[in-house]
Amino acid sequence: MTIREVRASGLECLALATELLQRARLVDAEAGLWEAADLQWWWRTPRRSDTIDQLFWIDGEGPVAGVVLTDWGRAWGCDPIVVRGVSTIPLPTVWARAVEAIDALGLEAIEVLAREDDSELLSLLAGAGFVADDDRSGITWMDARSRPDVAALPDGFALVDRAEQMTRPHPMRQRNGEGVEARLRECSLYDPALDLAVEAADGQAAGYALFWFDPVTEVGMVEPMRVEDAYQRRGLARAMLTAGLDRLARRGARRLKVGYGTDAARALYVGAGFRVTSTSRSYARRRPVGCEDTAE
Ligand SMILES: CC(C)(COP(=O)(O)OP(=O)(O)OC[C@H]1O[C@@H](n2cnc3c(N)ncnc32)[C@H](O)[C@@H]1OP(=O)(O)O)[C@@H](O)C(=O)NCCC(=O)NCCS
Repeated sequence: MTIREVRASGLECLALATELLQRARLVDAEAGLWEAADLQWWWRTPRRSDTIDQLFWIDGEGPVAGVVLTDWGRAWGCDPIVVRGVSTIPLPTVWARAVEAIDALGLEAIEVLAREDDSELLSLLAGAGFVADDDRSGITWMDARSRPDVAALPDGFALVDRAEQMTRPHPMRQRNGEGVEARLRECSLYDPALDLAVEAADGQAAGYALFWFDPVTEVGMVEPMRVEDAYQRRGLARAMLTAGLDRLARRGARRLKVGYGTDAARALYVGAGFRVTSTSRSYARRRPVGCEDTAE
């Protein structure tokens, strides 16, 4: 099948990335790092990368590969994505075009998250001078039929969703900006009834968690999950998680996925029945921009 290159930015890029990741998931139940919902979550706040033209390869049915560059502030993330077994564009070609794009944009600090079992990407990263950091993150999966029973909240707390509770400001605005809810509503997979929060008796948001149902892949995903420091270790995360997973299953999710970056989060998810299927490390390259900047 003929493959052509297209470039897209902003919401058009997000739509292509969504199709690309959905296709990758339909081909392989656990391949790669990201669901389409992950990239939709990244859309929650405006970024410089929204305006750049990102590269995709498309066949008659849609995208088969792409390079997604994301401005995280501290560095730019680079995600070379290939639908393996379908794309005739191999990962080394996608990676070479990613490096070209990074150079063309003059980006100094780049981070690439790579699975520890992705030997092809790991060797490309080593060849390009990327160095791993010490932290490991991971991905966990669960069959929706194995989901835990919904756990009760401790007294004095209430579970609310964004479909029923619109009078208070969105609890994610403090970390993600006032525009977070408007940005989320631009995402095709965002569902206010799966946007949960726990409120304390005085109405304060004690925690929040967002669940994403993808009707194409029938995957239900959790991202983010947060309980504010003052309210931790009282079972609030477990209550939100089990309630959200139940809503995802009722919506039609057959498989459930969540990634973790900390021991506490891993313990929460494994304790709820998720199984770690892959671990990842972040690889970074920081390029000196001038002589005076090379000293660390
Ligand atoms: C991870 C987090 C959501 C847990 O919230 P929480 O309401 O305190 O969690 P719960 O009280 O419901 O705990 C449920 C289980 O999670 C695990 N857990 C929670 N906090 C933990 C910690 N600090 N260390 C180890 N395990 C922990 C335990 O298994 C716990 O069960 P237990 O209390 O019976 O031992 C919270 O610490 C948080 O928001 N952290 C910062 C943001 C974050 O890392 N989010 C996850 C991103 S993937």
